[in-house]
Amino acid sequence: MRQTLVAGNWKLNGSLESIKQLVAGITAGAGDTGNTQIAVCPPFVYIPLVSNLLADSKVDVGSQDISDQEYGAFTGEVSGPMLKDFNCTYAIVGHSERRALYGEDDAFTARKFAAARKFGLIPILCVGETLEEREQGITEDVVARQLDAVIELEGIDAIGDAVIAYEPVWAIGTGKTASPQQAQDVHAFIRGKLAGLNPGVADKVQILYGGSVKGSNAEELFAMADIDGGLIGGASLDAGDFLAICKAGN
Ligand code: G3H
Repeated sequence: MRQTLVAGNWKLNGSLESIKQLVAGITAGAGDTGNTQIAVCPPFVYIPLVSNLLADSKVDVGSQDISDQEYGAFTGEVSGPMLKDFNCTYAIVGHSERRALYGEDDAFTARKFAAARKFGLIPILCVGETLEEREQGITEDVVARQLDAVIELEGIDAIGDAVIAYEPVWAIGTGKTASPQQAQDVHAFIRGKLAGLNPGVADKVQILYGGSVKGSNAEELFAMADIDGGLIGGASLDAGDFLAICKAGN
């Protein structure tokens, strides 16, 4: 039985003051969230603060991105060992905003996935189609291509040490959630594809759904057989809504 994981991706939001308040709100209620695993992914500069504040809680910390490099002349990058220094557990790789806005392609995402693993972080690999791709009927092709880039570089067993997040781009920050069945169909496709390569890995890997998840729709999404939690954007900035999503994981 896979545990439910709810990860908040705060994106480019927050200030010193608002983040202290948000963390206080989350820690106050985290104890009432049952078995749900919880993580938050603050902007890089706030990771040391958030890690400290969450040190005695059940909430893990992740980064929103990671360099594919370890050290050296790579201005603006943050490496795996640096993230480990501040107790990060997870690193998001291949978020659709990185892919679309910063030109990060499948191969680059696969190298970031490899870097996360190499330095002891659990990659949260984001995959998902645009609206145009869904309308063309190529959702599965797109998701398979994004997964294959990682499997070709790192091997199928590596997926067993990772988390996958299916995020249809058309549902991110738009208020348009995929229906539970639409999401389940893609999750089942992902798990089925992995099962064809290694059934044990397919059975073990947590596949999260992301895209306008809220306290009000989380339960019906998480009730689907192959949805093992969520990657939450907007709603993770509100402690009450985020905790409601975490509770829906039980
Ligand atoms: O990483 C999170 C996703 O992009 C979902 O964002 O919940 O604001 O739609 P959203």
